[in-house]
Amino acid sequence: MSELDPVKLMKQEVGRAAAARVQSNTVIGLGTGSTTAFAIQFIGERLKSGELSNIKGIPTSFQASVLAKQHGIPLTTLDEADEIALAIDGADEVDSQFNLIKGGGAAHTREKIVDGLAKEFIVVVDSSKLVDKLGSTFPLPVEVLPMAVTPVTKALEALGGKPELRMGIKKDGPVITDQGNMVLDVTFSGIDNPAELERTINNIPGVLENGLFVGVATEVLVGEVKDGQASVRNL
Ligand code: A5P
Repeated sequence: MSELDPVKLMKQEVGRAAAARVQSNTVIGLGTGSTTAFAIQFIGERLKSGELSNIKGIPTSFQASVLAKQHGIPLTTLDEADEIALAIDGADEVDSQFNLIKGGGAAHTREKIVDGLAKEFIVVVDSSKLVDKLGSTFPLPVEVLPMAVTPVTKALEALGGKPELRMGIKKDGPVITDQGNMVLDVTFSGIDNPAELERTINNIPGVLENGLFVGVATEVLVGEVKDGQASVRNL
């Protein structure tokens, strides 16, 4: 019996399955969040054991970069890499079309750049992230330039959303992203047309990027647990 709680166990196993897909001599996109953290750990283990060689990672956040260094994964940049063979990243919601809400860790701007450039983008989630309609369980994160928080809040309200400035935990005041911006978490009671809303929000002056990922994921791995036993399936 594992000591991990069921959610952690699902995240661990789906992270392990994604790490197994990495091939030697490739550049990989390293996502952000607690599920991808397991994938980064297992990629590092494969490198250490000699099963993998000549891998370079492009991190999507400060967190991913710290974890990659901790687990011995060499890093590179978009300026240096010719192509990203595979990106592995988590999500906050996934619908049946593989559309996602991301940004629970405020890293969605860099994630969209790196995941979107990858030839293959594998999403790693536990089964609680699967939804019929995006926006039904998780608010949509929107990264905003600090000077534009008030007008962007009004524009998002005009679209029918309920924006809330994300506040820090163990830090007074708002969360500041790796780019020095702020995040509005916008509650919509279900998003009917994710592609349209993604474009509309990104057109508001002051918005850097929102957490809707439409048509970016190529594969979704879902971790599940039954009677203490974890398994992974392809959506
Ligand atoms: C980071 O900003 C997010 O997009 C994460 O990838 C997402 O929140 C999933 O995180 P967990 O794997 O921790 O649930």
